[in-house]
Amino acid sequence: MSLSILCVDDQRFMLTLLRSLIQAKGHQVEVASSSVKALEYLQTSHIDILICDIGLDEEKDGLALLDQIRSMPCHAGLAIIILSRHDEIDVVQRAVALGADEYILKPVAPKRLMAALDRWSGLADTGVPWDSLSRDQAGLMRMTLGTVGHAFVQAHQGQPVSFAKTRAHALAVVRAGDDQAIAEALSALKNHDGRTYLHCMKMGAYLGLLGHLMDQPQERVLDLITAGLLHDIGYARIPLSVLSRPERTPAETAWLLKAHIEQTRTIVAAMDPAPPADIAEAMIHHHERLDGRGPLGVPGAKLTETARLAIVVNEFLVHRDLRRPDLIRRSDREIMETLRRDAGLDQAVVTLLDRIVGAGVGLSPSGP
Ligand SMILES: [Fe+2]
Repeated sequence: MSLSILCVDDQRFMLTLLRSLIQAKGHQVEVASSSVKALEYLQTSHIDILICDIGLDEEKDGLALLDQIRSMPCHAGLAIIILSRHDEIDVVQRAVALGADEYILKPVAPKRLMAALDRWSGLADTGVPWDSLSRDQAGLMRMTLGTVGHAFVQAHQGQPVSFAKTRAHALAVVRAGDDQAIAEALSALKNHDGRTYLHCMKMGAYLGLLGHLMDQPQERVLDLITAGLLHDIGYARIPLSVLSRPERTPAETAWLLKAHIEQTRTIVAAMDPAPPADIAEAMIHHHERLDGRGPLGVPGAKLTETARLAIVVNEFLVHRDLRRPDLIRRSDREIMETLRRDAGLDQAVVTLLDRIVGAGVGLSPSGP
């Protein structure tokens, strides 16, 4: 995916260096040597990621520019990476508090910069109505999306994924239980191949809502949300050539189902510290069935309550969003009717989910 990136720095050689590094990765690069030029550029052009120095000019330094951009709702979805020589902790904290998504120290390590671009590229096309969120809400949403995107990049690169770190950034989804604006932002997330993590955001949101409904303590709700955020992380280890194929045979679909579960199992087993056992199981068993006809053939009696929650929500989202060619697009009400007739699902959980979907709590109805 080609991104539009604006680099702001008062040093010409730095702009030349950044331009050549980033263009080599196939992205479009624009440069600005002052805060005024950067603002002018942002007013007239679409930018996905802004890379900004701190020591800019007398008019405005990089932090003041960051503050100004973050106060403009139209740029709430813009990923901002600060690139600076300042290694003082109070400067870094200030940048993050003002809305920087990432802080990278100069001299710039090309690998680190490219990993940051990968991490934040997901913000550009998420469908989140950033304008409708407050500055704090947008910050939380960007942080959660960035963290889940980061987990997928790590898994794709064969690195270990941290349940604990993902859990620490699941706050935006926690708030979805009480906050309509964030809930609507989550509901606007799009799904398509290569962007499974957006499906995971919704899974986390619904599991969190179920946790709220079941009066679970906040710590438990956070575990449920994190399980949702990471349940399909195995897809990050499936070759993109397979994922992006427009049509699949039934045999390929069955292979993909098993393969992503096996990969999720491998990633979960390597997590250190390990997540709670039933949470780990829920991530691995999210396609199982009470009648034992799931891909792993786990009998219903061995499926934990947490796994049953994950199975029902996943089934709902598969019908609602993933638009598999063998499934017909239907309203939430019709999908819930299908789920109520499905003997492979825990009907007590279906009833709970029905209360969320039927009441329109949290996530708004799907389109026609
Ligand atoms: Fe899955």
